[in-house]
Amino acid sequence: MRKTVPLNNDWRFTEVFEEAFIKEDFDDTPFQTVNLPHTNKEVPYSYFDEKMYQFVSCYRKELFVPKQYQDNKIFIDFEGVMCFAKVYLNSKLIGEHKGGYTPFSFDITDVVRFETANTLVVMVDSTERKDIPPFGNVVDYLTYGGIYREVSLRIVDSVFIDNVRLESMNLLSNEKKLKAEICLSNHTRASGSASISVKVKDKGNEVGMTSLMVPISESAEHTAELVLDLDESIELWDLENPKLYDVEITLQCGDYVDLYERRFGFRDAVFKKDGFYLNGRKRKLYGLNRHQSFPYVGYAMPKRVQRKDADILKYELGLNMVRTSHYPQSRHFLDRCDEIGLLVFEEIPGWQYIGDEEWKEVSKTNVIEMIKRDWNHPSIVLWGVRINESQDDHDFYQATNALARHTDPSRQTGGVRAINNSELLEDVYTMNDFIHDGGEVVLRDQKEITGLPENVPYLVTEYNGHMYPTKRFDSEERQMEHSVRHLRIINAAAMDDYISGAIGWCAFDYNTHKDFGSGDRICHHGVMDMFRIPKFAAYAYKSQIESQREVVLEPVTVFARGERCIGGVTPLVVMTNCEYVDFMYGGELVGRFYPAKDRYPGLTHPPVIIDEMLGEWGMAWRSGEFVGYLDGKEAKRKKYSEAPIASKLIASADDQVLSSGDMDATRIVFQIVDQEDNLIPYINETIKILVTGDGELIGPSEISLVGGCIAAWVKTKGVKGEIAIAATCSRFSANELVIQVD
Ligand code: GAL
Repeated sequence: MRKTVPLNNDWRFTEVFEEAFIKEDFDDTPFQTVNLPHTNKEVPYSYFDEKMYQFVSCYRKELFVPKQYQDNKIFIDFEGVMCFAKVYLNSKLIGEHKGGYTPFSFDITDVVRFETANTLVVMVDSTERKDIPPFGNVVDYLTYGGIYREVSLRIVDSVFIDNVRLESMNLLSNEKKLKAEICLSNHTRASGSASISVKVKDKGNEVGMTSLMVPISESAEHTAELVLDLDESIELWDLENPKLYDVEITLQCGDYVDLYERRFGFRDAVFKKDGFYLNGRKRKLYGLNRHQSFPYVGYAMPKRVQRKDADILKYELGLNMVRTSHYPQSRHFLDRCDEIGLLVFEEIPGWQYIGDEEWKEVSKTNVIEMIKRDWNHPSIVLWGVRINESQDDHDFYQATNALARHTDPSRQTGGVRAINNSELLEDVYTMNDFIHDGGEVVLRDQKEITGLPENVPYLVTEYNGHMYPTKRFDSEERQMEHSVRHLRIINAAAMDDYISGAIGWCAFDYNTHKDFGSGDRICHHGVMDMFRIPKFAAYAYKSQIESQREVVLEPVTVFARGERCIGGVTPLVVMTNCEYVDFMYGGELVGRFYPAKDRYPGLTHPPVIIDEMLGEWGMAWRSGEFVGYLDGKEAKRKKYSEAPIASKLIASADDQVLSSGDMDATRIVFQIVDQEDNLIPYINETIKILVTGDGELIGPSEISLVGGCIAAWVKTKGVKGEIAIAATCSRFSANELVIQVD
């Protein structure tokens, strides 16, 4: 018996908290009805006071539990509440939790009533409490507030499986094994024995199985370990073939039967002195840091939107790694990383500051909570057990490392620092190397940073960011420099055998505190903006993918005579994975240009750089055309008009079909293009968005284009039907979109 009941819809919410709200008979009808994931306060896109969401609020919900479960154990599971929660059931305090990024559960068996209403009340403190990481000093990101991840009831028998840690062993030999460590709970007053079986299935077909009898004593927790021989034919989880199997663990104890299911991938991942090895093969890691925030609703985005970010990183940016800066992120995001083969470096919450002993205790608990939630994700290859960019603290970091190694002996630890000669207590020296300022030095030799006589496993975990903040609507020259700085660093990382890889700052722009960013509460450090719309730097990464996956041909230009200083568009950097590019100006061939291998010897696909001048200031401007070739054949063409004119407003949705039930959402991108279908970056029309039917818009319905385009998310109302999206500006109406909700 195991049942999970989602509790995501129909909460009653108010932006204050009073003791009276805890009482069962309190009348919450004046409260707002909300669904999870929920943010305690929608914020404007920019220039807002970050204090606006820092308050204590109340969530209430009625629960009905049928009588059939009265002999069961009942838990309530919270996946993420920012940042301190006190939970009451039927006026009784059942528990509290510190920390906004990790899950927590409470046993409500003794308090819950059957066949009648139960009142669940959650006090949510979203202030920046100094006793909880990352708070205590300034932080370069916003943490938002509310019950921003899912909540559910878990109903199990009195003897049940609490958690399972899966570990693959000897994968590079012909004695491949799966070890399962099973945490059991016996809440009965009887001792006896239980039989446990572990089955590995591939699309329903059993490919391995073992079982064991274990003694269990009354009212106790137990750990059983089973090792299963894997067949030679087992496929390994890899970047290109992220093969996943289903593992079923069955517990039988008298009449009690529990089935615990988990997806798993078999892979061997290790950072060595000379780089990172996946399944015995050395792989250079290319990644970006991801904050989990979105415009308006902060962290409160549902499953589909979380998953989409992983797809963007893998497919739109061509990366093989992400760092979940600076905290554990949504399980939906991690699930998708497992499915598509995107490696993850996950770390505990924190930012530069280490607090007092009480604070450190919360941080150590974060280590355990993070690992116990996520230890079965094949995508995760490294635990970050330091507070990002903090100073050394021998005792604290010895403790976090020991906890991580004890909880999950199968993974290495890292811990991100920005200081040289930092004490290496981790398995991997993970370093934010912000040396590149556009000059000669791009990345430092690891020994210069570590101060150690020998090379150690080493990974660059940040670069660029504040060294060159760039907005999507910045000038072409700035965007070009931004793009080539990213290229230079991935080139340098590729050329250094003792750097496992480099993870840049960062994937997406993010809202931040007043002490950072451009004064607008945004750090414009992403290679994409907050709406996940690419800046030119995004193509520095994307152009490294294989052309069989997608042909990339992205000239870093708006193609106009007078955008750059002095005029012209050269040197013109074309991010491409084509073998060569023909460039035509005014219909005449200027030349055939090849990737700049001499300047970027480490890159799989160096950019094509065109230096030819196209006439001088005062001469007529003409059209441009780029044709990329593969195997001697035209593979992609891009044309620029000499006289761009706003021609249409295009609306495009990430998804055509959404799900009813729990909240679902998708992004709609609005852009104005010219007669060649190129985005025109300097148009600043206001767009009016009208959403009708069975969905609603997240954020304002009137927004102005930023850099020629903008996006918005549309969310469901829980019911099946259709959502229609219409958008207009002073010059155009967009194509109408209709999204199904099934
Ligand atoms: C780093 C920090 C990041 C971000 C970045 C901006 O020092 O770890 O969180 O603030 O700088 O470049």
